Amino acid sequence: MDLEEDIRSLQLDSAAEDINGVVNPEDEKPDVDNFDKIEDEGLLSGNDPKQEVQAQSVEAEPKAKDKEIPPVQDEEDEHMKKRHLNVVFIGHVDAGKSTTGGQILFLSGQVDDRTIQKYEKEAKDKSRESWYMAYIMDTNEEERVKGKTVEVGRAHFETDTTRFTILDAPGHKSYVPNMISGASQADIGVLVISARKGEFETGYERGGQTREHVQLAKTLGVTKLLVVVNKMDDPTVNWSKERYDEIESKMVPFLKQSGYNVKKDVSFLPISGLMGLNIKTRLDKSHCSWWDGPCLFESLDSIEVPMGDPQSPFRMPIIDKFKDMGTVVMGKVESGTIKDGDSLLIMPNKDHVKVVAIYIDEKRVNIAGPGENLRVRLSGIEEEDLLSGFVLSSAANPISTVTEFVAQLQILELLDNAIFTAGYKAVLHVHSVVEECEIVELLEQIDPKTRKPIKKKVLFVKNGAIVLCRVQVNNVICVEKFSDFPQLGRFTLRTEGKTVAVGKITAI
Ligand code: GTP
Ligand code: MG
Repeated sequence: MDLEEDIRSLQLDSAAEDINGVVNPEDEKPDVDNFDKIEDEGLLSGNDPKQEVQAQSVEAEPKAKDKEIPPVQDEEDEHMKKRHLNVVFIGHVDAGKSTTGGQILFLSGQVDDRTIQKYEKEAKDKSRESWYMAYIMDTNEEERVKGKTVEVGRAHFETDTTRFTILDAPGHKSYVPNMISGASQADIGVLVISARKGEFETGYERGGQTREHVQLAKTLGVTKLLVVVNKMDDPTVNWSKERYDEIESKMVPFLKQSGYNVKKDVSFLPISGLMGLNIKTRLDKSHCSWWDGPCLFESLDSIEVPMGDPQSPFRMPIIDKFKDMGTVVMGKVESGTIKDGDSLLIMPNKDHVKVVAIYIDEKRVNIAGPGENLRVRLSGIEEEDLLSGFVLSSAANPISTVTEFVAQLQILELLDNAIFTAGYKAVLHVHSVVEECEIVELLEQIDPKTRKPIKKKVLFVKNGAIVLCRVQVNNVICVEKFSDFPQLGRFTLRTEGKTVAVGKITAI
């Protein structure tokens, strides 16, 4: 059976919920060869979970300051006709994520020439001439001075078929929790890779963020990846086909190991974010004679992603909240539909609330379905009584609340090769929840090759192991079984700033 077939059969298996899967960080170890192929649309698809809530940022998206609740402007609910996708930009530091994001906004007509000129001057004053495009996404002073994204920037643009929200993640390793936050809200990912001499290599090395981001994205439910090979204009690259092919050929095995079905779920394309080439329109032969593939907008347009079910019970994890003529909560609809006037519950506290107004961007709407990023004005609750990680939920069928659950975990890389045993403590990230947790019991180990339980009693496991265990948290949290709501039942465990394990909830 060749690799592709192998992956496909494993994907089918995963529908039966009997395997784990997950990314394998040990991709250089010979003995994990089979393990590497484990694909689990399950654990590794869908989307959402965790975030370092505090990290959430909405830089490019001003909050509503309306003094009166405006009438619904979208009478026909036009937005329901065009799909909405969250696209997270990931990749190593300085790969050009913010520059490409900024260029997309410029090319889609959201930033005028005068603003660009202003940014050019500001960038020059900071001796960061080439950084002006990134300033569209990097809106705070620290980011502009250092030339590094810190908080996830957010912006919107539309193509013929899709309304996109761009989530511009930081590449620097100190800000991985923010990246997790962005990726956990995303449906698709744009992995930006710098083709500049030496830069691809640094990002791809062990410990480079190209690797960590890909593995996290897959775990967090980013099912489709567009790999953009950026900086093709750089003098060390000069649109070289050899360089592009080299990068593609090195990335493919790694993407497979990380659980992506490269034929189905990944596509590659060359761009120059800075020059705006192969972004909105196809490449001109004068720049690049060998590429006749699509441009970035076309590729984004053609990506198909299964969306949540509009008929299923409503669930919207809260990522942020503020006071503005009542209480406003922000989040992404993970399942179901919300309408003006709905009576809902805020879980886990079971507070009854009423929907006063729903906003997509600045527009007030009557109704919104899965995948939408919303601000919802509520009555019946004070802002102080809300926390990130609470879930706005159907009253008839509210989200489950737990202090303990059973999960299948894959151990990625423990600190200093520590052992993973009962009593192990970590920080649990599941949708917008961030909570201390403890592993209270290891139930059974699962053979990564056969994906069958190993009979022997398990007391501890090491890197690469798959294990079923009981996990406890101190405070009540809202989660679901992975098989019912993948995006609300998928999580990561982090310790001291490192992702040590990924998992899915199998019983609550
Ligand atoms: P972090 O947010 O810190 O992870 O970086 P980033 O990936 O957002 O990179 P950013 O957009 O800030 O760009 C980093 C540097 O690369 C800047 O100097 C950009 O001008 C440069 N750069 C980005 N895209 C291109 C490109 O297409 N060609 C060239 N030549 N330089 C680019
Ligand atoms: Mg950036």
